[in-house]
Amino acid sequence: MNNLHIAFIGAGNMAASLIGGLLAKGMPATHIHASEPSAERRDQLERDLGIHTHTDNAAACADADVVLLAVKPQIMREVCLALAPALKPGQLVISIAAGINCASLQQWLGHLPVVRCMPNTPALLQQGISGLYAAAQVSEIQRQQAAAILDAVGSSVWVPQEQLLDAVTAVSGSGPAYFFLLIEAMTEAGVRLGLDADTATELARQTALGAAQMACQSDVDVATLRARVTSPQGTTDAAIRSFEADGFRPMVERALQAAADRSAGLARELGGG
Ligand SMILES: NC(=O)c1ccc[n+]([C@@H]2O[C@H](COP(=O)([O-])OP(=O)(O)OC[C@H]3O[C@@H](n4cnc5c(N)ncnc54)[C@H](OP(=O)(O)O)[C@@H]3O)[C@@H](O)[C@H]2O)c1
Repeated sequence: MNNLHIAFIGAGNMAASLIGGLLAKGMPATHIHASEPSAERRDQLERDLGIHTHTDNAAACADADVVLLAVKPQIMREVCLALAPALKPGQLVISIAAGINCASLQQWLGHLPVVRCMPNTPALLQQGISGLYAAAQVSEIQRQQAAAILDAVGSSVWVPQEQLLDAVTAVSGSGPAYFFLLIEAMTEAGVRLGLDADTATELARQTALGAAQMACQSDVDVATLRARVTSPQGTTDAAIRSFEADGFRPMVERALQAAADRSAGLARELGGG
């Protein structure tokens, strides 16, 4: 992977995380180009990370094996249409934009091999997870290159059908906010039970971190982990019964369905043309 040349179109938060991850994995800074309208941000990237920066998207792509589109979905069409004449047949295009499907990207860019990704915000700490989908034109080597790039900020999974990226968006793309909401609600409940806000916040945050680490590192599934800490008639049992009686699982299912529906809706609003 470290001999690849990558061009980032848009160098905001997510691109900067990916660039940081790639450099940490040993990719030479001279192999990374980024185009970005903000002079301040270009200076910062050159100074702090040593990569090449550009004002012109086409110039950034001139020697790239991989072109990674990291602009907001709302401007993707205009950016792709302007970039299309500068792209070459062998270049792999990776898009991390929410809700822009492969058909739209290929319509705007001219049927290049396209990989669509849905990363999530823990990528900022190199703890992300991305769902990836490859259009038919993408070779096995290009699939490996795409996964290696996204794995620089965490890990990745492939989905076999593009519409499953709506499910990925619902589970992991939007997922960090669900955990933030649970931490918020646990903190507020702790305060109502008499704890001061700082103590309740610390207890809720560290519990989330510890539970997530146990879930990731244990050799048993989360249902077994939960059963192990739920003695019959005990305190955890009382809370879990209360959650279940209040319809916790159907509530989560409805919330994720709403996120997936919104993801599919965004694709209809932003795609085509
Ligand atoms: N952040 C996330 O957690 C996350 C998760 C999954 C997917 N994504 C996707 O990642 C993409 C980037 O998100 P982000 O959070 O990194 O956004 P961001 O911080 O706003 O980054 C976008 C960058 O693109 C620049 N830009 C604007 N117009 C441009 C143009 N014509 N050519 C080149 N660059 C241009 C922006 O510069 P200015 O600020 O100067 O306009 C900005 O620096 C989005 O499509 C989003 O859907 C993000």
